[in-house]
Amino acid sequence: MHESLLVFRKRFYLWVALLLVAVSVAAYWYHDPQEPPNGGTLLGYTLGTVGALLIVWLAWFGVRKRSYASTLGTVQGWLSAHIYLGLALIVVVLLHAGFQFGWNVHTLAFVIMTLVIISGVFGVIVYLRYPERMSRNRGGAPRSELIDELEDIDRRSLRVAESLGADFHEFVASGVQRTQLGPTLWKRFRGRDSSQILLRQGGETVITANAGQEAALDWLAEQQSMSGDAETVSAISELSALIGNKRKLLRQLGADLKLQATLEIWLYVHVPLTVALLGALLVHIVTVFLYW
Ligand code: HEM
Ligand code: HEM
Repeated sequence: MHESLLVFRKRFYLWVALLLVAVSVAAYWYHDPQEPPNGGTLLGYTLGTVGALLIVWLAWFGVRKRSYASTLGTVQGWLSAHIYLGLALIVVVLLHAGFQFGWNVHTLAFVIMTLVIISGVFGVIVYLRYPERMSRNRGGAPRSELIDELEDIDRRSLRVAESLGADFHEFVASGVQRTQLGPTLWKRFRGRDSSQILLRQGGETVITANAGQEAALDWLAEQQSMSGDAETVSAISELSALIGNKRKLLRQLGADLKLQATLEIWLYVHVPLTVALLGALLVHIVTVFLYW
């Protein structure tokens, strides 16, 4: 999903939306009701019906997105239409209400609708910018490649650690096992590295936080400074370099997961607001007919 969703088929849906706005404005201009313009005039009812149908259709998008078997146009075309017609909705509804607002459930429906639309604009910005950022962050490589690289580093680290003895092997193995980037959506969004490692300190094994492989690198530096034998020092250096690379990869992966989490969290705003809007709209329409 990239810029082409806005310029889909030469901005076809932008023109459809502008046409809808133009026709609504022209009708509002020519319409001459006996009362101040409001939702209860003939034009008011017409525009209200158009608005309500649009909202139901926009909300239908969630269902459409998931029905891959459907032959009713592409998802990209739908999203392009969704964005432009969703924006046109504001004008249609303002004209429907004749720019009259009170402290009532009608205005509540309008406020929720505006929130859905504003959240939609945020969503589009995220969608348009993030795929490019994602690929820039990963240097164009798919996520699976980063994970493969990470596994390769882990394998090589274990091999080097083996040559250094049981303590080192245990150290690296625990670091591999406990590498974890935000298990929850919120932690991924916050870019939290929840990795841990088991460190041997004064004869005791302690679980230590290892965000950014910091603790592991510190421990290795300490071991290196305590070792006199050249071969051991060189192996520890090799291990440090490998874990340094792992740290870089984890940072890239973390940034990638954060971008994806942002998209997921955004849906948690846009979709529940849509449900609230459908509820408020139903109440609006029912009360209007009750008090008719
Ligand atoms: C079938 C669809 C609709 C019908 C039949 C309808 C009907 C009406 C009527 C009769 C009024 C005038 C109420 C009055 O003056 O007391 C009104 C006002 C209003 N409607 Fe609708 N409407 C519809 C859709 C919508 C939609 C989609 C929205 C926006 C989410 C909306 C928002 C409003 C607002 C903000 C007012 C002005 C309330 C005020 O004067 O305080 N309506 N509507
Ligand atoms: C009252 C108006 C709107 C309603 C009721 C509405 C509702 C929805 C729904 C139900 C979805 C499907 C989400 C899902 O289940 O995955 C969706 C997706 C989306 N909406 Fe809206 N929307 C509205 C207006 C807008 C506007 C004005 C924009 C942009 C300017 C927008 C941008 C988006 C985007 C980018 C998605 C894509 C989600 C995806 O593909 O994952 N929406 N919207």
